[in-house]
Amino acid sequence: MDKNEEVIQLLKTYNQEHIINLLDRLDEKEKEAVIEQVNKIDFHQIMELYQNTKKEIEIKENKIESIKYLDKEKLTKNEIDEFNRLGEEIIVSGMYAVVTMAGGQGTRLGHTGPKGTFKLDVYGKGKYLFEILAENLKEANKKYNTIIPWYIMTSKENNDETQEFLEKNNYFGYDKDSVMLFEQGELPLLDTEGKMLIGKDLKIKEASDGNGGVFSSLRLTGMLADMKERGIKWVFIGGVDNAILKMADVTLLGMAINEHVQIASKSVVKANPQERVGVFCKMNGHPKVIEYSELPEKMAEEVDNNGELKYGESHIMCNLFTIDAIEKISKEPLIYHSAFKKNSYIDEDGKEVIPNEPNSYKFEAFIFDSFELFDDIAILRGKREDDFAPVKNKEGVDSPKTAKELYEKFWERQK
Ligand code: UTP
Repeated sequence: MDKNEEVIQLLKTYNQEHIINLLDRLDEKEKEAVIEQVNKIDFHQIMELYQNTKKEIEIKENKIESIKYLDKEKLTKNEIDEFNRLGEEIIVSGMYAVVTMAGGQGTRLGHTGPKGTFKLDVYGKGKYLFEILAENLKEANKKYNTIIPWYIMTSKENNDETQEFLEKNNYFGYDKDSVMLFEQGELPLLDTEGKMLIGKDLKIKEASDGNGGVFSSLRLTGMLADMKERGIKWVFIGGVDNAILKMADVTLLGMAINEHVQIASKSVVKANPQERVGVFCKMNGHPKVIEYSELPEKMAEEVDNNGELKYGESHIMCNLFTIDAIEKISKEPLIYHSAFKKNSYIDEDGKEVIPNEPNSYKFEAFIFDSFELFDDIAILRGKREDDFAPVKNKEGVDSPKTAKELYEKFWERQK
């Protein structure tokens, strides 16, 4: 069987005849591009993910318990000094790196272009999200007399635009040689019948495989090896869309070192028991972030002896990992969650269809699903007004408007 025939057989086996029809319509170069794609896709895996979308969600007997955390507000001065000393030691000696996950589609925000290129309307002139992050890291570099290596995860879709944007803006004054971009993996989008969507470029339409893809992408792109070569011991992994994210928090780092854990996370307390956020817990003895939809209402309202919510620590995408933890996770398959979303595609007549309703499944791994691979996590409760100004939605909660207010108020308090 020649190579083309093998591809056709594969597509038949997995019920993707429409791609065979597409191949017939393409010129040689276009055909080659699709065949290359087909050869890279794990059809068995993707069909399994599709079958899972048809299954009822299994309710397993899980043992859910609250998780311990430290409240930064309640630490003594001695504790803070000791944590800060431990954390500073690592950063000053060049053993600390930062990863920004910037491969998301930012569909809710509706900004055309990578989310980091969104300009938040602060102080009249405005600042790009990438600019805000660069400023935060530059401040840490000055304070600790170092240059923290900054790894930025992009998607295949937004990598070039991100690169051009950073070049054009001179990396916002960051040492260019210490900024490394790397692309995350992708998975095909499937319609309700399990058929892969075809994109405008006449290729199989794929989308980034979720922020949990960060671990395997770090390894597969050689970034993990690069970190090891530089002698990095601790890595902060955060999102691109929190305007007051602290990427070099020595208290968080020192607490992790002091507790001898491999992973640590900053939380903020839930605004109210019904807030739709994932919260930390222990499930079957392992750390876990449980989605609001999976937490029974009674548990969501439960309080401890101090009147604090027992399941009140929200995950805000502010996580620390040892280099060994990243290596370990990068070799373990994380589960994929499916999201039913609106995605445009090219139909059998070659016409572009822009759906008004969700029409396809996107598969994503989540960073926090890695936590259960460990026995323990150190959690530091921060403060919403100091740590969390998300830019998620176009309007309303967690929008540019709320993030601008939080950002300006935060900096006002620093004066
Ligand atoms: P979200 O899950 O909030 O996604 O990402 P998003 O892309 O920003 O927005 P929506 O859901 O499409 O509206 C949280 C963080 O994870 C990154 C995002 O860039 C953001 O920093 N992310 C998400 C990735 O890097 N890759 C992905 O595949 C998904």
